Amino acid sequence: MERIQVIRGMRDIFPEQARWWRRMESQLAAFLDLYGYGEIRTPLIEQTGLFKRSIGEQTDIVEKEMYTFTDRDGASLTLRPEGTASVIRSYIETSLWQTEPVSRLFYLGPMFRHERPQKGRYRQFSQLGVELIGAAQPAADVEMIDIMVNGMAAIGLIDTSLELNSMGCPLCRPAYREKLITYLEEHAENLCQDCRRRMKTNPLRVLDCKVEGCKQIAGQAPRMLDSLCTECAEHFALVRRGIESIEIPYNLNHRMVRGLDYYSRTTFELLAPGLGSQNAVAGGGRYDGLVEHLGGPSIPAVGFAAGLDRILLRLLETIANPQRQQPVFVVSRGEQAWLSGLGVLRALRSAGISAESDARQGSMKAQMKRADKAGARFVILLGEDEIERGVLTIKDMAAAADSPDKQFEIQTGNVVEELVSRLAADATREAPQ
Ligand code: HAM
Repeated sequence: MERIQVIRGMRDIFPEQARWWRRMESQLAAFLDLYGYGEIRTPLIEQTGLFKRSIGEQTDIVEKEMYTFTDRDGASLTLRPEGTASVIRSYIETSLWQTEPVSRLFYLGPMFRHERPQKGRYRQFSQLGVELIGAAQPAADVEMIDIMVNGMAAIGLIDTSLELNSMGCPLCRPAYREKLITYLEEHAENLCQDCRRRMKTNPLRVLDCKVEGCKQIAGQAPRMLDSLCTECAEHFALVRRGIESIEIPYNLNHRMVRGLDYYSRTTFELLAPGLGSQNAVAGGGRYDGLVEHLGGPSIPAVGFAAGLDRILLRLLETIANPQRQQPVFVVSRGEQAWLSGLGVLRALRSAGISAESDARQGSMKAQMKRADKAGARFVILLGEDEIERGVLTIKDMAAAADSPDKQFEIQTGNVVEELVSRLAADATREAPQ
């Protein structure tokens, strides 16, 4: 029969990698706790209109990447392609500003975009998103950039570079847009087909086109940074001073325009080496108009999201795999010994010791093989004879074959205490001096 395969651009994660994921996610949550951010969990599916209205009709995400379907009630729903829209929807729905003037929220979880899969780009991928809602001041932008850069460093992602830009505001951007369109029209014949179309619908996107000819034209294009109104320029100057004072280096990049329409003023991306074209590991910016645009009051906000799949690819190349604790393995012969082994397993696990046995209950030899495969640190041997005498045999898998400690007998009641102290001795030996 034909086998069903996993959907293109999606992946299964097996225990070894899942351990990485858990570590990364728990370290990030602990880091965000230091800054006072609390977790929000929103549904994976939202009404399609939410994303159209917030991300923008003329963006790649909305035009061609959303997983949209009609549900059984005839409603148009979409698997979330990002998290900001959902957080703001929820913020407005619960009138959160009435109970807290500033909300600090984060989320971790899968997002869905129907992009062309390649290394570091998937159709289901995971983001950590962080949103600070209710503060218009540059201090909020600086806090966000600080979290993005230092949060990633805290989980081991170093050698990153920060790209910084300002997209202006509804006061200064329209005039810049016109200036840009005039310039692009003068060079239209040398732009790629996509950009000739984008030039009219979303001209800022031409600035980050990857086609060589377009790149050259974009390099000479008028810069938003030179067209900022006084307030946007002052805001940007203070953001720069703030991140300089906490010693985060950055590059001004006037061609870095984000793929979502809700941004105003500061935008930023974090790039990491070794990832080829998918080197943006995190990105975000200020989005002062979004709460109002989605039907709430006029409340400013700033945030970012980090692509955890890409970060993990990088970490796998640069730091050691988190190891699972080596288990204690219980090998038993006969029904009585198996039952007594169950008690030993439970006592060990209650003491926080990882303990396993062979669910197939084969011969002692087969069970020993399984213990080896599991990387057991100690093996406990239980036979009818041992049960009668109230003892069990412990085999130290790391001891030399001729060592008197290789195999020894102890009273069953002492097994937890004995192994706790031996494992503690291991830990002291392994700890770096
Ligand atoms: P974004 O730049 O679209 O921003 O996505 C953030 C990060 O998600 C990217 O830098 C990248 O690392 C990762 N990412 C995006 N698409 C994929 C993919 N197909 N496969 C793997 N990783 C991917 C946002 O989503 C905004 N919501 C960020 C934000 C929060 N702005 C304000 N608040």
